[in-house]
Amino acid sequence: MEVLHTIAEDGDRIVILDQTRLPRETVFVSLSSLDQAAHAIRSMQVRGAPLIGVTAAYGVALGLTVEADDRHLEQALAVLAATRPTAVNLHWALARMAEVLRPLAPAQRRSAAWDEARTIATADEATNAAIGRHGLPLMATIHDGRWRAEPATVNVMTHCNAGWLATVAHGTALAPVYAAQAAGMPLHVWVSETRPRNQGLLTAWELAAADVPHTLIADNAAGLLMMQGRVDCVIVGADRIAANGDVANKVGTYLKALAAKAHNIPFYVAAPLSTIDFDCPNGISIPIEERSGDEFGDLGLAATPRANPAFDVTPAHLISGIVTERGVHAPQDIASFKP
Ligand code: MRU
Repeated sequence: MEVLHTIAEDGDRIVILDQTRLPRETVFVSLSSLDQAAHAIRSMQVRGAPLIGVTAAYGVALGLTVEADDRHLEQALAVLAATRPTAVNLHWALARMAEVLRPLAPAQRRSAAWDEARTIATADEATNAAIGRHGLPLMATIHDGRWRAEPATVNVMTHCNAGWLATVAHGTALAPVYAAQAAGMPLHVWVSETRPRNQGLLTAWELAAADVPHTLIADNAAGLLMMQGRVDCVIVGADRIAANGDVANKVGTYLKALAAKAHNIPFYVAAPLSTIDFDCPNGISIPIEERSGDEFGDLGLAATPRANPAFDVTPAHLISGIVTERGVHAPQDIASFKP
């Protein structure tokens, strides 16, 4: 299967796939400055925790193009850190860039920044491929347990987009789906719209391109489908995992986890170790991004206040397992990976 990428180097620029134009148009945008990289993250031209981190790393490299002294380095780090608050991969990537670049003389920083950003990007691809390998047996177990049953198809439910578009390549939650498809397993994915920004459409676009059978549903249909026995497992991504295994992910995830628990359906989270915030003790401490109510669109209700929290928190006790590049872990064991 062809490996698709969201971000690439192009000389002293980077090229991204503009996700605000998908699924209607496939448009690539060239970024050549710190401000353009920050704008791409803030406006969600690039989105998804791992891809935000990689773009921020390249953003530092772009920021050092003109000047690479301490002031410009710290400014680049600060501007990028302020773009989006919840996905911890952003801060993880910036911390890595800072650790490499701060000790260097300004003249050495430019090439070192490109090298480190490239290392982070390359590692993301390998990490997600490993998540796919570790997640595959979870679906194989479901499939093998019911291979005599008709239909033998494994019905997976996901939320938001944690496919290759949310990463450099492969995706997180969708990596096991793609691995299962490559293994010839019959499967079908329920894709929830993910209002208000409809990242589920990105998932549908990805799955259609990869010939993975899928069905788009309204967010509120998830509980009924579970009650009807039409969902075998739920697998979602994560934007930040607290040390106690609580998971912040796109708003609506928590309701799916509650419904899955009520119907005894396994609920998995797939994310790289870079999504774990070891300094964050629990989910309630995770900063939740509040976005503009304009994202609801024109509802003809100018006088009605709007609240638009972009993420929610799923408590560890609702999570059956967290799939990382190291394997499948109980949520309460995640703190043991602290470097
Ligand atoms: O606001 P977004 O689209 O950047 O949200 C982040 C996400 O893509 C999801 O929450 C995803 O499930 C986790 S990141 C792979």
